[in-house]
Amino acid sequence: MEGAQLVSDVQRLSESLGELLEPVAEPVFIAVSGLPGAGKSYFCSKLTEKLPFIILESDALRKALFPSPSYSPQESSRLFGAVRLLIERLLKKGNSLILDATNLSERHREYLYSIADRLGVKLVLVRVEAPPGVVYERLKARRENLGGKSDADWAIYKRMKPSVQKIRRHHYAVDTSRDITPVLNKIVREVMH
Ligand SMILES: Nc1ncnc2c1ncn2[C@@H]1O[C@H](COP(=O)(O)OP(=O)(O)O)[C@@H](O)[C@H]1O
Ligand SMILES: [Mg+2]
Repeated sequence: MEGAQLVSDVQRLSESLGELLEPVAEPVFIAVSGLPGAGKSYFCSKLTEKLPFIILESDALRKALFPSPSYSPQESSRLFGAVRLLIERLLKKGNSLILDATNLSERHREYLYSIADRLGVKLVLVRVEAPPGVVYERLKARRENLGGKSDADWAIYKRMKPSVQKIRRHHYAVDTSRDITPVLNKIVREVMH
């Protein structure tokens, strides 16, 4: 039964992506990590101006599966079970992608490491950060403008903050309250070899 649900979840997520780009021989997997308001989605959209990657934004995918999301642990585990399988399928087919999700704990990131290692795909990790005062102002403004796909506010930021764990693998770090161009360019260079 669970298997059938997973298959239909992956199908639904996949349909929500729309047209895919031309597959490539050596796809690359980029994953960002950071708290709500850190600037992950903004950073990912800037990256795709330079790289022909699909963005898998967990906030958007969650709403494709759960139109009125509860953010319960059960809901998240069903969502990320499907997201991981989708990532694996897309990479296998030669689609480069960016995972735009908080990815705060090493336990959650282990799944990403293992997908990349198993498929022999290059994984580029990015820790996205901004000073708390900047995040506070951004989340307040985002809420007032009803901007973006995220529902997270300052209370959620504070609740999630203790779950942040050091990334044990090589990664880039970007402070989005400053100029993000140097890091964008470094990643583009790494991806292009
Ligand atoms: N480098 C930046 N320059 C200007 N505005 C930014 C930057 N990064 C993020 N923002 C703005 O801050 C808000 C929160 O950023 P967002 O990317 O949605 O955060 P996250 O996806 O990490 O929750 C958004 O309104 C976004 O447009
Ligand atoms: Mg976001």
